[in-house]
Amino acid sequence: MTRTELRGIPQPDQSFASFMGLPAVYLRGAKKSFGEKEVLRDVSLLINKGEVVSIIGPSGAGKSTLLRCLTLLDRFDAGELAYGNVSVAKQEAAHALYDDAAMQLARMRFGIVFQNFNLFPHYTVMQNLTDAPMVVQGRQREEVEVQARELMERLGLSEHADKVPCELSGGQQQRVAIARALCMRPQIIYFDEATSALDPRLTADMHALIRELAADGMAVGIVTHEMGFAREVSDRVLFLFDGQIVEEGSPDQVMESPKDARTRDFLSRTLD
Ligand SMILES: Nc1ncnc2c1ncn2[C@@H]1O[C@H](COP(=O)(O)OP(=O)(O)O)[C@@H](O)[C@H]1O
Ligand SMILES: [Mg+2]
Repeated sequence: MTRTELRGIPQPDQSFASFMGLPAVYLRGAKKSFGEKEVLRDVSLLINKGEVVSIIGPSGAGKSTLLRCLTLLDRFDAGELAYGNVSVAKQEAAHALYDDAAMQLARMRFGIVFQNFNLFPHYTVMQNLTDAPMVVQGRQREEVEVQARELMERLGLSEHADKVPCELSGGQQQRVAIARALCMRPQIIYFDEATSALDPRLTADMHALIRELAADGMAVGIVTHEMGFAREVSDRVLFLFDGQIVEEGSPDQVMESPKDARTRDFLSRTLD
């Protein structure tokens, strides 16, 4: 264990009853501005192992910014962020202070599936899966390829190992993107609007896959505007509005009897 893993273990909020140990991701008091515009204002959340959490909210609420900062593509201005026992950012004098070594470690703990999948167009499916584990994680080709084949089998991609992305359907590309994220053996996987029903039959597959990942102990964070999907697949739903989480609870509670007027207003305009 490295020094970074030993120091700065965050204390999760006990109200979430984190009986499964430290949450996969823990965020407290996060703020983010672009110039004068405050995009995230005091956002706190955690996702436990084995839990599926969806973040919903209107366009411009800050969902993508939140996810970009959670996945270290950008930085929060203030707040505390930890992945398991790795404390990535601490709050110091109203600013988030990031630890470079911890960021490196944390990058091994999450995977992300982007809306447009961001596959490498000139790589085969196999190369898309094995590149990051070998380059970023320094793992041996043989071992990574064994795991890649297992994932392709599980996701029904075995016959496509040697194809490049443009030879695949949208649904197949979506599964390659998921397999690529899983090949890093993350503890948490994020989806940014990437669970969309490319074809209605695939929604059921995606639902089953996400529940299967959670049953295996993975934490799943989903950003989506698809209320029906969020409601069906999630253990918990967070409603983000104007940079703040204004409501949080079970999908039934948030979507059927929202307490906050802003949630009610949003749902009345998005649900049939
Ligand atoms: N790089 C950026 N520079 C300036 N403003 C940004 C940037 N990224 C996002 N924003 C602004 O932040 C707000 C939230 O955007 P975003 O996180 O994309 O929301 P959502 O994903 O919920 O639609 C929007 O007003 C957007 O214009
Ligand atoms: Mg967005």
